[in-house]
Amino acid sequence: MSFPQNFLWGASTAAHQIEGNNTNSDWWAREHGHLPGARPVDQPSGDAADSYHRYRNDMRLLKEAGLDTYRFSIEWARIEPEQGFISLAMLDFYKRMVDTARDLELTPMVTLHHFTNPAWFARDTGWGDPRAVDLFARFVQHALPVIRDVDLVCTINEPNMLATIMAPANDDWSGIGVPPGDGVITEHLISAHQLAGAIVRGEGKQAGWSVATQAFIPEPGFEEAADDWSRSREDVFLDAASGDDWVGIQAYTRTRIGSTGALEAPEGSERTLTGWEYYPDALEYGIRRSWARNQAPIYVTENGIATQDDARRIDYTASALEGVSRAIDDGIDVRGYLHWSLLDNYEWGSFEPTFGLIGWDPVTFERTPKPSLAWLGEVAQRNAL
Ligand code: BGC
Repeated sequence: MSFPQNFLWGASTAAHQIEGNNTNSDWWAREHGHLPGARPVDQPSGDAADSYHRYRNDMRLLKEAGLDTYRFSIEWARIEPEQGFISLAMLDFYKRMVDTARDLELTPMVTLHHFTNPAWFARDTGWGDPRAVDLFARFVQHALPVIRDVDLVCTINEPNMLATIMAPANDDWSGIGVPPGDGVITEHLISAHQLAGAIVRGEGKQAGWSVATQAFIPEPGFEEAADDWSRSREDVFLDAASGDDWVGIQAYTRTRIGSTGALEAPEGSERTLTGWEYYPDALEYGIRRSWARNQAPIYVTENGIATQDDARRIDYTASALEGVSRAIDDGIDVRGYLHWSLLDNYEWGSFEPTFGLIGWDPVTFERTPKPSLAWLGEVAQRNAL
């Protein structure tokens, strides 16, 4: 199975999950109990993988394995730690990351917002407030020097998780799967995406956002119920990508929809360290659903598995890539595959679910590439499975 010419191969990360000490962010505040009402977490992010200091080495490992693209996010809370105060040094820092990627002949894909907000934004505004749209757009304006040498810009990562599982109003959701999307937050995120997209497109960049596709697969007879379920949790965000330069598809597992809504994973099914069903076909499902709704060119911006068994990571990824290849054979415009994640990382409350192609020592931060990194690098070099 070979992939199209110029297909991008790489891995993704997000600032808060690997950099460490993101102390001005709302997640840091939450981790230390300073965000009133927010769900408590098991572990704080602390130093995370200290990629803040080690990013060059991390990118070098990716490059040396044979991959060519690195998706990472810039941190609003570092660039604008207080409202209206822009840190020129932090803009420089992220510019150096882009320069480093370019030095290593990696294609950088930069995410402008990956789940975390500045603490002041969460405290005073939040995505439920209409002022959020302009505040984010202003940040994007300030961040333009960082992305001067970047072509692929992801405005907002998984807006559907921000509007569902991370919406303050859904904090006490105890149902299966993710709660329904908050309509007001959804509206603001779509406006913010459109505004940010217009700003970066004005600089000649290709803009898109990355959507969590959740493979809401209907049990026989529940097709309509699955569509209803999907609407506020996924479809509205895929639809908003129509006309974009590209859309990012992120897939991990499926959720079956039946008489009671979302169903538990089937009895006896293999579960990963996040508790999710092992279901690599979720990626093909997400790609096809997106293409049917918006026809936007696709980058797989995240796909992976939390496991200690690296051989299983390879199995999962190979199966997911077979699905990508089938979709391409059917004429769907898929332009790249970026694995989640380059490094084991802070999984929003815990370090236990390990998604990385590279592990690291929690005391010395020394990196240990896993066999899956070399395997994916070889696939990339052959441009074929
Ligand atoms: C997010 C990542 C996260 C991954 C695995 C996606 O929801 O974009 O931040 O680590 O899935 O849970």
